Amino acid sequence: MCGIVGYAGYRDCSDVLVDALSKLEYRGYDSAGVAVFENGEIKVCKAQGKLEMLRKKMQEEGKPQGRVGIGHTRWATHGEPSDINSHPHSGAKVTVVHNGIIENYRELKEFLSAKGVEFVSETDTEVVAQLLNYYYKGDPLDTIIKTISDLDGSFALGIIFADYPERIYAVRRESPLIVGIGKDENYIASDVPAILKYTRDYYLLDHDEIAVLTDSEVNIYDIHKEPVEKTLMTADWDESAAEKGGYEHFMIKEIHEQPNAVNMTVKPRVVDGLPNLEECGITHENIKSFKNIFVVACGTAMHAGMVGKYVIERLAGVPVTVDIASEFRYRSPIVGEGDLVIIISQSGETADSLAALRLAKSLGAKTLAVVNAKGSSIAREADMLVYTHAGPEIAVASTKAYIVQLAVMYLFAFELSLARGKITEEQCRELTLSLLAVPELIGKILETDLEKSQYISTKLLSADSLLYIGRGLDYALSMEGSLKLKEISYIHSESYAAGELKHGTISLITDEMPVIAVATQRSLLEKTVSNIVEVKSRGAMVIIITREDFTIDEKAYDFRIDIPSTDDMLMPMLAAVPMQLIAYYTSVLRGNDVDKPRNLAKSVTVE
Ligand code: F6R
Repeated sequence: MCGIVGYAGYRDCSDVLVDALSKLEYRGYDSAGVAVFENGEIKVCKAQGKLEMLRKKMQEEGKPQGRVGIGHTRWATHGEPSDINSHPHSGAKVTVVHNGIIENYRELKEFLSAKGVEFVSETDTEVVAQLLNYYYKGDPLDTIIKTISDLDGSFALGIIFADYPERIYAVRRESPLIVGIGKDENYIASDVPAILKYTRDYYLLDHDEIAVLTDSEVNIYDIHKEPVEKTLMTADWDESAAEKGGYEHFMIKEIHEQPNAVNMTVKPRVVDGLPNLEECGITHENIKSFKNIFVVACGTAMHAGMVGKYVIERLAGVPVTVDIASEFRYRSPIVGEGDLVIIISQSGETADSLAALRLAKSLGAKTLAVVNAKGSSIAREADMLVYTHAGPEIAVASTKAYIVQLAVMYLFAFELSLARGKITEEQCRELTLSLLAVPELIGKILETDLEKSQYISTKLLSADSLLYIGRGLDYALSMEGSLKLKEISYIHSESYAAGELKHGTISLITDEMPVIAVATQRSLLEKTVSNIVEVKSRGAMVIIITREDFTIDEKAYDFRIDIPSTDDMLMPMLAAVPMQLIAYYTSVLRGNDVDKPRNLAKSVTVE
């Protein structure tokens, strides 16, 4: 998704903007640009492609010299990636960078065209710039308020007015935006990593709040022009958390951060050996009587919900429906009072998940958010909130955020089961103890399985397509394994319930279709192995991910990855790791941009 930055201070503005934009690269983008006040005039420089292209253009054409300006990385929505469609966009007196989608931009464009305004790009953003320009009569605040009243859709905007060369204006609706507070310098940004090098203090802008920044002052107003008092937030991680720290890619760094992330997420929520989510608004009283639970999320977060479903149903005996957020919001779900809707989201800003949360609330359900990004929209709007403590996840492919989402699903399932009297305190203590031991086991896997996973990746390089299979929790996990591989290696893959293969899909099996089979569930082992034998005997190369204490006939597979044993229910947290490693190494060996796979964005703030 697009990234926005802005700076007013004493440093070289172009340098700060490009540096801050480089910290937002993980969001995905296809062009970049800046607008800086140079001797009182707005100077724009923008280029299609990576930031390197922008740097090159700045060298060729002269870097804009100044102390105040805005910058942008664009992930194309309206109009192809090109220099012209890149942001910033300008009207005569106003220049704008924008994240989000203006849904009524066509009507507005027609309106402005009828007034004689000419457009140079295909973007919805230029319409905003021209509308601001149209309404501008000398007062920027009035102009912004009038303009955003006309806009439908989502936006975070960084705006500069030619008449006010010492100021940046910022406003948001739906799309995230923060205001960074430094000493004699202030910032705007789409996300905290952009400003961490300069400051850890920031304000979160709320919907329709307008920030006015100079190097020495920040004022925030509501839509009625009333000043708003904000709480200053402080990021609890520093710049190094958003850097590679000696690893070749963020993804492998983040895979290695998983033991710590699980510790940070689980340990503070265990009191006297039992899960305790009171600080998140969760008590035995308020969770024990839900009739139905829905888990609604997208992509990897939805896969964490799949694991949650198996565990909650098995332990707590409450029916759980897992929904893809973009389906849930349009399928008239039968949800209401007495139901709980859990929204899982790393970014806390995913447009469909946020809309699903709002829908669930409007239908009378209680909502629980499981979110990584502090202060994000989903975190703020849910009735109950459990933060995962993964720290910043920069690689587009989610790894550590997934693992901690699983950890929270377990904590919640244990607590719910205890509250409903489905497990004894002693059983709950045992399960919790096993969960607390998971970080150490992940650490062990990272010591022993790196090379094996790397070797297996060499066997997958030339495949056109792969199958991931498993039963029960292994099936839920294989969905994530398959997504991880396909999104970064660009090899097609599907996950299948192992028992379902013979109802159609097995006809795809040849010696050119590798199969990754997950077999960690004791009660399902025999059945899973029969399914594995079915594909092996039809020529597939089989890689089995299983636990070290399982005996499996060597003829059933070609390669075996062993992981340590723990309670069956917790095995997905361990088996996920070799899957992540296989995806990672396959992508590296294929020479792909591992951290920023093509066409993908980290935070999907549009539908
Ligand atoms: C894949 C991945 C995505 C996200 C999905 C939801 O590796 O990261 O599938 O899980 O876009 O994002 P969040 O969790 O931010 O709502």
